[in-house]
Amino acid sequence: MRTPPKPRFIMRQSLTRKDFRTRHQKLRPLRYRQSGQNSVDMDFGEKETMSSLKIYPERDTTQLLFASDNHGHIAEKLNEAGVRFEKWQTEAELAPGAAQEDVIAAYQSDIDRLISEEGYQTVDVVSLDSSNPKKDELRKIFLSEHRHSEDEVRFFVAGEGLFSLHIEDKVYEVLCRQGDLISVPANTPHWFDMGPNPNFIAIRLFNNPEGWVANYSGDTIADRFNRLEN
Ligand SMILES: [Fe+2]
Repeated sequence: MRTPPKPRFIMRQSLTRKDFRTRHQKLRPLRYRQSGQNSVDMDFGEKETMSSLKIYPERDTTQLLFASDNHGHIAEKLNEAGVRFEKWQTEAELAPGAAQEDVIAAYQSDIDRLISEEGYQTVDVVSLDSSNPKKDELRKIFLSEHRHSEDEVRFFVAGEGLFSLHIEDKVYEVLCRQGDLISVPANTPHWFDMGPNPNFIAIRLFNNPEGWVANYSGDTIADRFNRLEN
């Protein structure tokens, strides 16, 4: 195993089913499929990379209040709601099978900026693809509305995921794709869809990974909203 670039970063494996089994249970780092030890599969081909935001009233999914695939407009709308949304660039070329520390190093300046602004303590890399035998289980767990007492910060190195944020009386559906950073503020009800054929690599930043707990609301609201088809 290679040495992480900076000592304060904790290199970990990803999350799996076991840690999401019950409410109020701690999420511990587990394993998703990796292309090799401490590396991630970067082969995503030529996929659509446009992000999007759709906003609905919480009680009426037929009434679209806002829709955009313009990154600036999406960021503005989310910022108004207290949600950080950014586009990160890198000069580095990440080859398939890149080591986790190389993935982090490619975005080091943005990571450092976020750490200095928000005080995050740790960073790691997770990846999941459609060959994972637990993909359906995992998808279902993330699809229940829940909150954390910490920010949920994700940067999409590759692939995609649909975050739905329940803020006041609206639902913000944020389709995140390669280059997108989203921070779901602490205590914001939300759910996440990785789709039936998940395929993503994400950098995660944590205030306190030991205290990162999913508190499920028990509300079935997520069932009424859109799913990610991939
Ligand atoms: Fe979450």
